[in-house]
Order: sequence, then structure tokens, then C-alpha cells
Amino acid sequence: MADLSTRYLGLNLRNPLVIASSGLTDSVHKIVELEKHGAGAIVLKSMFEEQILMEADYMVRKAEEHGGLFVEYSETFDYADVHVKEQEIGNYLGLIEKSRNEVHIPVIASINCLSSMEWTSFATRMEKAGANALELNIFVMPFNMKNSCESNEKTYYQVLQKVKKAVRIPVAVKISPYFSNLGRVIMGLEENKVDGVVLFNRFTSPDIDINNIKMTVADVISSPVEMANSLRWVALMAKRVNIDLAATTGIHDGEAVVKQLLAGATVVQMASAIYKNGPAYIEKVLAFVSDWMDEKGFETLHQFRGKLSQAKSVNPEVYERLQFMKYFSDYK
Ligand SMILES: Cc1cc2nc3c(=O)[nH]c(=O)nc-3n(C[C@H](O)[C@H](O)[C@H](O)COP(=O)(O)O)c2cc1C
Repeated sequence: MADLSTRYLGLNLRNPLVIASSGLTDSVHKIVELEKHGAGAIVLKSMFEEQILMEADYMVRKAEEHGGLFVEYSETFDYADVHVKEQEIGNYLGLIEKSRNEVHIPVIASINCLSSMEWTSFATRMEKAGANALELNIFVMPFNMKNSCESNEKTYYQVLQKVKKAVRIPVAVKISPYFSNLGRVIMGLEENKVDGVVLFNRFTSPDIDINNIKMTVADVISSPVEMANSLRWVALMAKRVNIDLAATTGIHDGEAVVKQLLAGATVVQMASAIYKNGPAYIEKVLAFVSDWMDEKGFETLHQFRGKLSQAKSVNPEVYERLQFMKYFSDYK
């Protein structure tokens, strides 16, 4: 019987299937269920700085409406702001603590911040609450087109440096593919002591309803074809960087998990497929990986992880553009 155990961010996982940060991991009873069906680890729903600020703003406006607050009296304003933040943060810390008490699998806390201001204090408190590791979901929207790529990228490194200084637990950074030199950025994160990189964050995208001529939001659930980009970049970076690589977006079945491991992923993260099929689907995915390993004669993940990474591959050009053009020229 195949041994699926692995290490990710210095933690021991019974298998490489991590449940991605999402509504699937926002309560203790859901996390218990995910563990019961075999999840290797979970990443908690992110703590959003944006969410705290919006919530605080809403409460302040409510208080104003009911005459309970004089905005000119700044101490009252500050109290309301701090109070709401504390409540939101307290709820999140409670989720970390309770999850750690209820499950044996690693619990990775997640922070999604807009600015670098609050990160360090959130991170320290999450560590104290018992998080086994932290995942920083960083996306600095490059609105200011006068800024150079380097200055945008520097923000990522600065946030990472601050958090790494503040905590002892391992830190992963979840990024988008939207960089002009993505490989360089991943190496830059490694130079700044990241423990792992999660490739890639998936954004809610805008869409347009042409019947009602209005803006809408595209499907929040991914489709399996979306995996190609993370497969390419995992394969390109595996063996080139000495950090863990978590593949995410579009991984919907056991076959996709095997592909990512062959490309060099340390672990995979899944959300959409579990939303669609329920937590029991985890068992099916893991059974596929285990059967495939038995069939191919692999006893451990180590024996085949990265076998088809670009660095190891006998056909490294497949991951580059040239092959893409050839593919199209054959396609009549
Ligand atoms: C409903 C929903 C909520 C999500 N919430 C978060 C979140 O709070 N933080 C985060 O980093 N990613 C979040 N994600 C993104 C997932 O973690 C994951 O990266 C993405 O869905 C791609 O994986 P998938 O193709 O398996 O769904 C969310 C995804 C979904 C579908």
C-alpha cells in the first residue's frame, strides 16, 4: 500500500491534499469533517483586513445614525473602530484555537491584507493562538501605473520580511501569476526566507451580462482547464528553488493531483472540487493517487515527485512557448 505522507512547511502531513482557504474551512465542525474524510491539512478561511475595516466603518455609521457616536469626538470613534476589530480578530483566533483542539491535522491560518500595516500584529496573535503555519495571500493591485515593477514586487518582500521577523512558525505566500517575471519573484520570495509558495491565487473575475447590460461576477468555482498555468509554473520552478510549492486552482480529481506531483508540487490545495462533491470526495481523490502509485510501483511520493519538472524532464521545452507554437501548427 502506497505511503502518501509528506512534509509541507516543515509540518508532517499524512497526505499531500490540503483544503484551500475558503468557506470550507471557516468553522470547526466543517474542519472536523474534512479531517474525517482524509484531508492532509487545512488552510483556514482568510482573515481579511478589508473585511475588518469595512465592518468597523459600518458599525461606526450605525452608531452615528442612532446618535450613539459623535464623529468629532475622536476617542469614541477610535474606541468603536478598535472594538470591532478586536471582535473580528477574536473570532478568528477562537477558530484557530478550537480547530487545533479538535483536529490532529495541521491548521494553517491565512491572512489577506491590503496594506502592510496590520499584518505583523495579526500574524503574532495567530501564532500565539496555535496556528501551525501562516499563509499570506498577498495581492497588491498595481493601480499606480507610474510605479515600477520592482517597487510593486518590493511590497511583497517587505510584507514577508516583517511577518518572518515577527513569528517563528513557517510562512507561505500565496501569489497570483500576474508578474512580468514570475520566476524571479518566486526566487525573490525564497531569498526573503519564505517557506513555501502557493501557485496561484484565483480571483473573482468581472463578467458582463449582455441581456441586462450590467456588470456581474464570473463563477467562483474553478474549472479543471484552469490547472494548466499552475502545472506549468510548478514544473518550471520545482528543483530550481529550495522551498515548498503548493499547487492550486483547477485541481479537481486524483489525476490532476498526480500530474502536479509529477511536475514537482509538494502538496496540492483544493477548494472548488470539494464544494462541488462534498468532503467525502477527498477519499476518492486519495484512493486514485494511492492506486496509481501501486500500479506504477511507487511506494512513496518522493520516488516520483518532480520526475516531470522542467529541470528533470527529458523534454524541457514542453513547458515553454516554442512547443505551444508547434502544437498549433500541427492543429489543422
Ligand atoms: C468560495 C471561495 C472562497 C474563497 N476564499 C478564500 C480566502 O478567504 N482566502 C484565500 O486565500 N483564497 C480563497 N479562495 C481561493 C481558494 O483558496 C483557491 O485558491 C481557489 O479557489 C482555487 O482553487 P480551486 O480551483 O480548487 O477552487 C476561495 C475560493 C472559493 C471558491
